[in-house]
Amino acid sequence: MALAPAPALRGPNRTMLRGPSILLGASVAPAAVLAAALLSSLACCSLQEPGDPVVSGLSPYFGTKTRYEDANPGLLPDPEAPRRDPELLEGTCTPVQLVALIRHGTRYPTAKQIGKLRQLHGLLQARGPGGGRVGAVGGRDLGAALAGWPLWYADWMDGQLVEKGRQDMRQLALRLASLFPSLFSRENYGRLRLVTSSKHRCVDSGAAFLQGLWQHYHPGLPPPDVADMECGPPRVNDKLMRFFDHCEKFLTEVERNATALYHVEAFKTGPEMQSILKKVAATLQVPVSDLNADLIQVAFFTCSFDLAIKGVKSPWCDVFDIDDAKILEYLNDLKQYWKRGYGYTINSRSSCTLFQDIFQHLDKATEQKQRSQPISSPVILQFGHAETLLPLLSLMGYFKDKEPLTAYNYKEQMHRMFRSGHIVPYASNLIFMLYHCENAKTPKEEFQVQMLLNEKVLPFAHSQETVSLYEDLKDHYKDILQSCHTSKECELPKMNGTSDEL
Ligand SMILES: *[C@@H]1O[C@H](CO)[C@@H](O)[C@H](O)[C@H]1NC(C)=O
Ligand SMILES: *[C@@H]1O[C@H](CO)[C@@H](O)[C@H](O)[C@H]1NC(C)=O
Repeated sequence: MALAPAPALRGPNRTMLRGPSILLGASVAPAAVLAAALLSSLACCSLQEPGDPVVSGLSPYFGTKTRYEDANPGLLPDPEAPRRDPELLEGTCTPVQLVALIRHGTRYPTAKQIGKLRQLHGLLQARGPGGGRVGAVGGRDLGAALAGWPLWYADWMDGQLVEKGRQDMRQLALRLASLFPSLFSRENYGRLRLVTSSKHRCVDSGAAFLQGLWQHYHPGLPPPDVADMECGPPRVNDKLMRFFDHCEKFLTEVERNATALYHVEAFKTGPEMQSILKKVAATLQVPVSDLNADLIQVAFFTCSFDLAIKGVKSPWCDVFDIDDAKILEYLNDLKQYWKRGYGYTINSRSSCTLFQDIFQHLDKATEQKQRSQPISSPVILQFGHAETLLPLLSLMGYFKDKEPLTAYNYKEQMHRMFRSGHIVPYASNLIFMLYHCENAKTPKEEFQVQMLLNEKVLPFAHSQETVSLYEDLKDHYKDILQSCHTSKECELPKMNGTSDEL
């Protein structure tokens, strides 16, 4: 495998902004920056040749741990080149405003996941050498390979954004800026509005996105510290981006309710998971009683983490085949469905404030445009979580299957629409594009809207059309816009011991 200093020197401008050197301030001597970039590119290439991405047959089934490029394979040849959906409006329509909801980029496992992985790793190491009979599995002992495979995740990493995650954001910024040059113009830079969840991975995602934009405006210049950028650092707003933490009804009825995820728990002990458990116990040569669905799931996720974070194909991937992966994907989707999707009404209703916030921005922009005033916020970027996007998409009626996802209909749901890996991979993004269109036939001006999910036009749930008049869209969602108020939706029914005397 080539160590490739040559490509790094060929495009120092691009390379310089790729590695961790992006964090160095402008005061650092260019030579030092270049040296750091070379080092980081060497570090990268010892694991993965650029342009030769590591793939795993299991990748399509990683659910919320899916890499953005696995959900968008068109990006692989050049992740910085815009991918223009042919359905995107142009011609007589000009973009007025872009409101984007962006999930953070690739992240480390959480401390909880790392704890379980350590437990599993310990289990394998405790088997001792020869704990497994040599030659039991196709002539090689996978359990021993896993016991010897480094456990490179530590508690401090706890869900933080990784370098690959910063790259996800920089590349997304570059693509969006090229796709909508009038909105992301240099003049508009000071008017960008960034809002973020308080979680590190989201704040850092916002900062990396800004650095990508800087790279777009000033190719070759190291970006300043985010705090010194004209538009300032992202503003934290958890009521908007983590509405689920602020919704009492959701917390009581779902989050802290031991029986709310009944189907998830039932599936964990159901026949599909039991057969995986038995198979994995045999493969790793550990007692089946030492394993459980959570440990199996963390083994599967470790394959995804090693791939997304380290760019390596890990022996953890060899534990599973495609059929196992489909079952484990369903387990992940079941949880999202009952906790963030259609499982309970409150899951989506808790996002009403965010929905209304988006339409308030669009309303304001249409008013300003009608009065020929400058648009005060042409670009609004909101950084959150899969848990921010899924409820909003559910509120809007997307990816709704006829039958609910349950512990008992895995087979019937094989072709379900609710597949989180397609909807909310790392760096997933939902964009509301507001356009102003001159209608040649009538003197009337029109505002049109398009939605994009992961840079592809998302047909409207109500019409299946790829574009809607803004007024029609508001009309379709008028009930939510007028009568869904998070404060009311999230109120718990009064628990008053004396209420039955009323
Ligand atoms: C917990 O969830 C179950 C199943 O949805 C529901 O019947 C029950 O009322 C919930 N409990 C609380 C305290 O909301
Ligand atoms: C229940 O409601 C009654 C009547 O409104 C009120 O007087 C009482 O203080 C309430 N009790 C509790 C525990 O909230």
